[in-house]
Amino acid sequence: MNDSSGGVALLDLEPATSDFREQVVAGLSASPRTLPSKFFYDERGAELFQQICELPEYYITRTEHEILREHGPEMAESVGANAELVGFGTGAGVKTRMLLEHLDNPIAYVPVDISKERLVESAMALRLQMPELEILPVCADYLQEMRLPVPSRKPDHIAVYFPGSTIGNLEPHVALGFLKRVCQLCGPDGGLIIGVDLQKARHVIEAAYNDKAGVTAEFNFNLLVRANRELGADFVLPCWKHRAVYSEQEGRIEMHLVSQSEQAVHVGDHVFVFRAGEHIISEFSYKHTIQGFAALAASAGFRLSRTWTDPQQLFAVLHFVVPV
Ligand code: AVI
Repeated sequence: MNDSSGGVALLDLEPATSDFREQVVAGLSASPRTLPSKFFYDERGAELFQQICELPEYYITRTEHEILREHGPEMAESVGANAELVGFGTGAGVKTRMLLEHLDNPIAYVPVDISKERLVESAMALRLQMPELEILPVCADYLQEMRLPVPSRKPDHIAVYFPGSTIGNLEPHVALGFLKRVCQLCGPDGGLIIGVDLQKARHVIEAAYNDKAGVTAEFNFNLLVRANRELGADFVLPCWKHRAVYSEQEGRIEMHLVSQSEQAVHVGDHVFVFRAGEHIISEFSYKHTIQGFAALAASAGFRLSRTWTDPQQLFAVLHFVVPV
């Protein structure tokens, strides 16, 4: 469906409520129980995520900005002139702007995001700042196959931008499938600029997902609030606790919702009984090494071309090309 919001033509492929219901029921029926993290990002969830990005403990956004400020011009040079920039999960669009402003004659920008509100808002803001740039926003789950809109001018090549270490929210086999599709989209002249959160001391990572102000906890609970509102579920919030633990073995933060008592939860006709202490996995956030991530991307067809990190090696922005 096409929708015109504030002068920015939006291609709306947002997943239907029926997808949410199906995935919640399937996830809560599975063992271990799960809820899909992509559904965090309704309007409130996107707002909470913005707040997370500004938390003192959440080093990820701050560090990525620092790297972009320092190396944005080199990244733009690596992307090359006359590119169509496709942004996956580019959120509020701040990082994209930090890259776009250095690009030589960008042909178009195609942001793809599941959160319609932040997609439209950021596209409108960008339009004011770069009025000559063709912006073609798509509201969609970028893990699904989709046909992207075609810019009115032909680019020399496609550059994909995937900031924020959102790749970390995908399990390695899903990340591999996604990278393979991105590699095909880029073609032999294209490339990928991707933000990756690096493995580091457990206490630094755990603090980032257990902030003192409780914003991450509220972000986690928002999944239950959303299920109550959109699916008529009856999660009682005070009966759940937020937990985030780092598994060194898996190299990932595991975010859980922990049942505080024995309780039954209804989702439509389905009843789910939880024991006290039983948890639902709501998100994984993988932390990589540069070598490990380069190997994963190599299995998808990419070759690591350039690496930018911060002095503490908390985060990396990597440029991959497709070898001919
Ligand atoms: C979007 N993504 C990279 C965030 C992360 O750090 O994994 C989502 C998040 N979950 C809790 N805090 C932030």
